[in-house]
Amino acid sequence: MMARPSCVVLALLLLAEVSASAEGASNPGFVARITRKGLEYAHRYGIATLKKELSTVKLPDFSGSFKVGWIKSVSYEFYRLKIHRFELRNSDLRLRPTQGITASLTNNYVSVSGNWKVKKAFITLDGTFDVRVDGISISVSLNLGKDQSGRPTASVAHCSNSIGHVSVDISGSLSWILNLFHKRIENNFKNILEQKICEMVRKSTASHLEPYLRTLPVIAMIDQVAGIDYSLVGAPQVTSQVIDTPFKGEFFGRNWRSPAPFDAPPIRLSEKQDHPLYFAVSEYVFNTASRVYHQAGRMNFTIQNQHIPQDSPICLHTNSFRAVIPQLARLYPNTELELETSPESAPFLMFTPGNVTLSPVIAIQAFALLPTSSERKLLFELRVTTNISATISVSSGRIVGSVTTGSKLKLELKHSNIRYFNVDLMEAILNYYALHTLYPSLNAKLEEGFPLPLPRDTYLNSLELHVHKNFLLLGANLEEAEH
Ligand SMILES: *[C@@H]1O[C@H](CO)[C@@H](O)[C@H](O)[C@H]1NC(C)=O
Ligand SMILES: *[C@@H]1O[C@H](CO)[C@@H](O)[C@H](O)[C@H]1NC(C)=O
Ligand SMILES: *[C@@H]1O[C@H](CO)[C@@H](O)[C@H](O)[C@H]1NC(C)=O
Repeated sequence: MMARPSCVVLALLLLAEVSASAEGASNPGFVARITRKGLEYAHRYGIATLKKELSTVKLPDFSGSFKVGWIKSVSYEFYRLKIHRFELRNSDLRLRPTQGITASLTNNYVSVSGNWKVKKAFITLDGTFDVRVDGISISVSLNLGKDQSGRPTASVAHCSNSIGHVSVDISGSLSWILNLFHKRIENNFKNILEQKICEMVRKSTASHLEPYLRTLPVIAMIDQVAGIDYSLVGAPQVTSQVIDTPFKGEFFGRNWRSPAPFDAPPIRLSEKQDHPLYFAVSEYVFNTASRVYHQAGRMNFTIQNQHIPQDSPICLHTNSFRAVIPQLARLYPNTELELETSPESAPFLMFTPGNVTLSPVIAIQAFALLPTSSERKLLFELRVTTNISATISVSSGRIVGSVTTGSKLKLELKHSNIRYFNVDLMEAILNYYALHTLYPSLNAKLEEGFPLPLPRDTYLNSLELHVHKNFLLLGANLEEAEH
């Protein structure tokens, strides 16, 4: 079976334990929020899943015995039990602030059929039976936490159930013998059910829910350079309205790993509840990414003539500078030039309401490539500043970006070995290069983006995105599961 799209709600929902001790309490890079709408969705999904599961659930065989005067003890066995009708009449899913979540089912009805067998000495009697059980109520409270790897864990904190009324109908050869004892069989059935229900809840939590929660990524590799750490930084916070799950959301270098030298800013989420699910993505996530790619040298570029488009009016060749920097062509006739660019520090994104901007400061060194040797001659050094605005969006569960030039590049000459240097001309060249080569290649990288921390087979749609101070808020709907 493929489609388990909406499991995210269930999983996040189950991250519902709140331990009062907020250990270390560093700010998260990501917060996943489930709202009341998300809970309602989880509720519907849970009921639909329960109905489907119950039709395939294997009930345990059960047996008992009774004493009859003239045949002494007779043992009976009920087997091949199958649920063929289930009526869910009342169900409720509730958040318990600072504690967790409680699911309760009340006044439900189930009917079960199966086979019976009685053995006594050489005699075996058998037949079929029907049981109707009414007034089934179950209440389950879940505690969730995080393990040492930062993954969520789930456990049943409390489970109770009660059974209203059981009635058994037995048919088959000599079924009247069993029918004589139907009261006792009914009681036996009731006792067994009362013992088994919570046992089954605990078992399925351990065998389905826990493994499912373990599919939440703790680490995702982005490319050769970087990975992202999605471990939980604390237990999920439950209020009467929402569950907030805090993820670390920190990029790290794959070849070396050192903690980011800056902290994530606090994320202040409003009480908006239009969507079932929200993701807050702190600028911290982007800035730890910037730090990693900067340190790995992925922001250092060498610009050569071959990178300049053919139809460009300017090329990196001394000849094309003859008119504006005559000294250059005289000193290095017929020589190609090369520019090395590197940000002076990792450029940081700034999130302000409605806008994402970055203001990189880039050092540029220009060299002449001597035709007769492999030597390069440093011609001049520049510092370039600009304001870039970034657009961030979500595509296929990944956060992707693109940049547009907010302002032109501004140049400042730091040092020159050429006497008459024309800054304006250089500015024109670099602006042209930025527009036609640098931004498109940067955008190609940003388009790859990075994934949201979602459990497997989870799909989001109807996304809404807003930029707030320090973070990006993404409201999402989940694709409805097919039932
Ligand atoms: C990037 O370029 C700068 C300036 O040339 C240099 O100092 C730095 O070491 C380079 N970074 C890497 C990782 O190569
Ligand atoms: C966001 O950017 C736009 C376009 O650059 C600008 O007009 C607007 O004032 C900015 N808003 C804020 C809050 O800075
Ligand atoms: C970038 O924006 C800041 C603040 O708006 C401004 O002071 C600065 O001059 C801008 N820089 C460039 C290169 O446009």
